[in-house]
Amino acid sequence: MDKYEKVFELAKRRGFLWNSFELYGGSRGFYDYGPLGSTLKRRIEQVWREFYVIQEGHMEIECPTIGIEDVFIASGHVGGFSDPLCECKKCGEAFRADHLVENVMNAAGTLSAEQLTQVIKEKGITCPECGGEFNDAYEFNLMFKTTIGPGTGRQGYLRPETAQGMFVDFQRLSRFYRDKLPFGAVQIGKSYRNEIAPRQGVIRLREFTQAECEIFVDPRNKKHPNFERFAGRELVLYSQAAQEAGEPVRMTVREAVEKGVIAHEVLGYNIALTNEFLTKVGIDPARLRFRQHLKDEMAHYAIDCWDAEIETDRFGWVEIVGIADRTDYDLSAHARVSKTELYVYVEYDEPKMVTRFTVKPNMGKLGPIFKGKAKVVADALKQLSEAELSQAEIKVTVDGEEVTVSSDMVEFAEETVKVSGENVVPHVIEPSYGIDRIFYGTMEHAFEEENVAQKAAESGLKGSGEEGEEGPAVEAGGEAEGEAEEETRLVMRFSSAVAPVQVAVLPLLTRKELSDPAKDIVGKLREKNLLAAYDDSGTIGRRYRRNDEIGTPYSVTVDYDTLEDKTVTIRDRDSMRQVRAPVEGIENLLYELIYRGRSFESAGKPFNF
Ligand code: ATP
Ligand code: GLY
Repeated sequence: MDKYEKVFELAKRRGFLWNSFELYGGSRGFYDYGPLGSTLKRRIEQVWREFYVIQEGHMEIECPTIGIEDVFIASGHVGGFSDPLCECKKCGEAFRADHLVENVMNAAGTLSAEQLTQVIKEKGITCPECGGEFNDAYEFNLMFKTTIGPGTGRQGYLRPETAQGMFVDFQRLSRFYRDKLPFGAVQIGKSYRNEIAPRQGVIRLREFTQAECEIFVDPRNKKHPNFERFAGRELVLYSQAAQEAGEPVRMTVREAVEKGVIAHEVLGYNIALTNEFLTKVGIDPARLRFRQHLKDEMAHYAIDCWDAEIETDRFGWVEIVGIADRTDYDLSAHARVSKTELYVYVEYDEPKMVTRFTVKPNMGKLGPIFKGKAKVVADALKQLSEAELSQAEIKVTVDGEEVTVSSDMVEFAEETVKVSGENVVPHVIEPSYGIDRIFYGTMEHAFEEENVAQKAAESGLKGSGEEGEEGPAVEAGGEAEGEAEEETRLVMRFSSAVAPVQVAVLPLLTRKELSDPAKDIVGKLREKNLLAAYDDSGTIGRRYRRNDEIGTPYSVTVDYDTLEDKTVTIRDRDSMRQVRAPVEGIENLLYELIYRGRSFESAGKPFNF
């Protein structure tokens, strides 16, 4: 079993992830999140909200997951949101043509369907399932189509990204933020893509959760007001140049922006913020890098894009976040299709005197020729550019009809006026997070198999209390005993920020005199908003192992000494060490361990080390 299989085995067994529609044989590209998986996912989303909504001040909105066709015509998804598809002539199995070619050449993602077909033929690539030959590759649009309303209805699509909601609501958002740039808005919600070959668990789903932030900035000023916050942070950057050289570079955000490795401060700040978020939820910094898209790999709307990629055991480097500079692509496209100007009026610090070209139609000459339409022709002339007006015969369109005006019917002048601002179409910087991929990343990076004896020696444990010395005679029914003697323990080293259970409370035996005080402790912990679970099933050693597997950072054990001296044992998941601490105030102590970075050693009297 490789790590991916081991993580999935644990995820299924412990209630993190289940195949959707299992009862009916399942369907590729869909997963259910079980009780612990749902909690872990929600907690990752909650940390994301703390970062983007609370700290950055980008308010959350919620738009429909079904969109009308106009939106996706404007966004370019109807025309160009596709992947190259290749079908096996023999077994009919579908594959991403670029993925088939990836094994024989670099940058396969930059090739067209025709080029991919050629490579597949030249290199003799055959179906991995049955060895059959492939049909020619073609572009397959990834959007799910639907019909809105009964009968023939109206063409709609399930949204392939949450971002469009923020663009379509731009005018409302701008007013909400009192038309002051920069401002941002976020959405966390489902997106849908009819992926060609979803064979990578929750890394490639047909229904997945995105957390996206659209930051509207003044295109003339891509400096970040808070740049200094992360300027000294070192990042692993795999820029276009570094990819050519074959080696990522390590540098601070300041250095990267100064050297032009990262194009501007807003992009630099947001890459650093992503780094901060991912490490906070448990992505291993040693298996995290930021890779810049190659020029011909960029999405249709982006001029620059950096992917946060994590290293995985089976799939190598996998994109989990994309941070793109989408320029004014989306706002200009929606302005064009909706025929509504989308801009922000930006006032100058000081009004400026501006000299500009003006046109003065000569009504004395226009009147006799255009009669009743002379005024409309004059107004249309005023809308033309200097270049259009410089022709000997000037063309204007009036009431849908083109008319010609000779140049002697207009006079030109220059006027100097005081201007206090201008209309600006903002550029958009977009961090786009895939929550399911981050979820998988935190699971794989948290997963460890540990030799118990070796760990005990490293942690200086005298007796772990996990060999069942006090615990084999369990009265609750439950699982088989003896797990404590197993050589290997599986442990999920989730950060306390996202662990689905933060504290397990374990009565040593299922007798009322121990279970009642244990339940009281659970109550106190829950009042403090800690995720506490009561667990009395199986030997104490087995319960510790179970909580290691679901990543519970601390376990509290209530035993007969508790009744005498009002103390309990607290066990630290990672070191397996234990301390003895008073029941009084246990909720505050655990809160400090979990949220305030208090050291475990300071939490009580060493019990087994
Ligand atoms: P890929 O190249 O792997 O298909 P992408 O470049 O299409 O990904 P984006 O369009 O940049 O991905 O989407 C933004 C984020 O949404 C990604 O970083 C990823 O985390 C997530 N995402 C995209 N497609 C899927 C999917 N099918 N399943 C799960 N998450 C996804
Ligand atoms: N919003 C970026 C993407 O989903 O492609």
